[in-house]
Amino acid sequence: MRVARTFAEARDAGASPVGLVATMGFLHEGHLSHVHAARAAGDGTVVMSLFVNPFQFGPNEDLDRYPRDLDRDAALAESAGVDVLFTPSVDEVYPTPPDTLVEVGGPATALEARSRPGHFAGVATVVTKLFAGIRPDRAYFGRKDAQQLAVIRRMTTDLSFPVEVVGGPIIRHADGVALSSRNTFLSAGDRIAATGLYRGLMAAADAVEAGERHGSALEALVRGALMAKPGIHVDYVELASADRVERLVELDRPAFLAVAARVGAVRLIDNIHLDPVDGGFVADRGTRLVGASVMEVAG
Ligand code: PAJ
Repeated sequence: MRVARTFAEARDAGASPVGLVATMGFLHEGHLSHVHAARAAGDGTVVMSLFVNPFQFGPNEDLDRYPRDLDRDAALAESAGVDVLFTPSVDEVYPTPPDTLVEVGGPATALEARSRPGHFAGVATVVTKLFAGIRPDRAYFGRKDAQQLAVIRRMTTDLSFPVEVVGGPIIRHADGVALSSRNTFLSAGDRIAATGLYRGLMAAADAVEAGERHGSALEALVRGALMAKPGIHVDYVELASADRVERLVELDRPAFLAVAARVGAVRLIDNIHLDPVDGGFVADRGTRLVGASVMEVAG
């Protein structure tokens, strides 16, 4: 594995097609699953970017305490099969404060945008820079951040980037909690409470597969599971279309059922994608780890 500090070094990749896995580091199996997907798709070079992008954090968000550990990340990236680890400085990505921002409308204006103004402009701008600076053929993103995936797909179409955007399933701890770097800030009690998100989503997944199509009924199943848990403050539970991220009264197209909640000091998001298959819908429940995550083992 080669470490690149500049776009030029990262672009000097090697065999094509080039696959990009964009991350903010503190890697876990969720991030690494996209490296495996790139390898399985036959990408000749897998570039992983590792950059905590200041522009996507709001003033009251956790930029300063975002977990960082480059040595650990480099070891995990190398063993997962990354060819080029791109770890630029803030100056490399933003040599001057940018006068150009990528502002996506439509899918970037719902759900997360209500409590995180400016967040998706920060994400879309940095992903545009990665696409322009690295020129990948394929780019891999997680369904964990369902709205982000929708925003990146929309932006890629609108700006005619010659990049195939690939979405991968949510990787979960054995107890169902979606892997997230922010889980490291959950207390033991909060961590148990956080399983409520998963349980609510699984109840809704069962209901969808049994024929339930009403958005409000599905949302109520998730809310019900969370109300039973002390210490959880629900921000939103919403059935949204997968491409436009518009609220759906009726499940009648590709969608995701999303939840955002504050558990202790941490804001968690999770979802299930609901994919049309053979006239019905299948819930993407994600993939659960069998043992402990790399986030839980000392190192
Ligand atoms: P980050 O939160 O580090 O996530 C990097 C990628 O890993 C994203 O595509 C995210 O959806 C995916 N991911 C995170 N947790 C996952 C899980 N449990 N299962 C599957 N995939 C998971 O998302 C970002 O960084 C940034 O916004 C970024 C796109 C890098 C732009 O700065």
